[in-house]
Amino acid sequence: MEFFLDTADVDEIREIAAWGILDGVTTNPSLIKKSGRDFKQVVREIAEICSGPISAEVTAIDTAGMVEQGVALKNELPPNVIIKVPCTPEGLAATKILTEKGIDTNVTLIFSASQALMAAKAGATYVSPFVGRIDDTGHDGMELIAQIMAAWDHYQPSTKVLAASIRHPTHVLQCMQLGAHTATMPAKIFRQLLQHPLTDKGIDSFMKDWADVEAAGNA
Ligand code: E4P
Repeated sequence: MEFFLDTADVDEIREIAAWGILDGVTTNPSLIKKSGRDFKQVVREIAEICSGPISAEVTAIDTAGMVEQGVALKNELPPNVIIKVPCTPEGLAATKILTEKGIDTNVTLIFSASQALMAAKAGATYVSPFVGRIDDTGHDGMELIAQIMAAWDHYQPSTKVLAASIRHPTHVLQCMQLGAHTATMPAKIFRQLLQHPLTDKGIDSFMKDWADVEAAGNA
């Protein structure tokens, strides 16, 4: 399973990349706004830190505009940048054209299995269903991942399912059990997934015993 960071904060990306397990990064216009930095400059820096796919989102809403922005971003930014487009009729058309040009895409803002399968048919490299935003409406976001993975079992498209809008570690555990290919999550969730009190307690205990071994001259 691929673990992506969902942030445009390069310090967080450096921190998690240093663990050796970072497979990619997703950004969106809201995350770029939060960074307070120049869009292309921050994506360039992210692409230097992480060699995996870095999603940069188009902001046009018409097909020609999305294709124009996508091609320009591919030309101006490092080769591991992929183009994020919204799941609209215009976005699917743009995905088809970008795919035909050999440009990888991440179709975003997916809230139904039918949207996911349509984006896959358009040639998307990744589809991004938003789990947390569905939970926010009082429905079960993980049920969407289950529906999409069931459809993927039937039809086996080559498109990867990228669970997005992840809000807590249990979302990631459920994604693992359902076989989602990728999850993108904030740095806080990476830390929560790795931390375990018994690991910390075990290290303390081993360190104390090792100090006794050293004190006895047996190290
Ligand atoms: C990732 O590609 C999405 O933009 C992101 O996961 C959305 O998360 P949010 O619902 O927490 O904004």
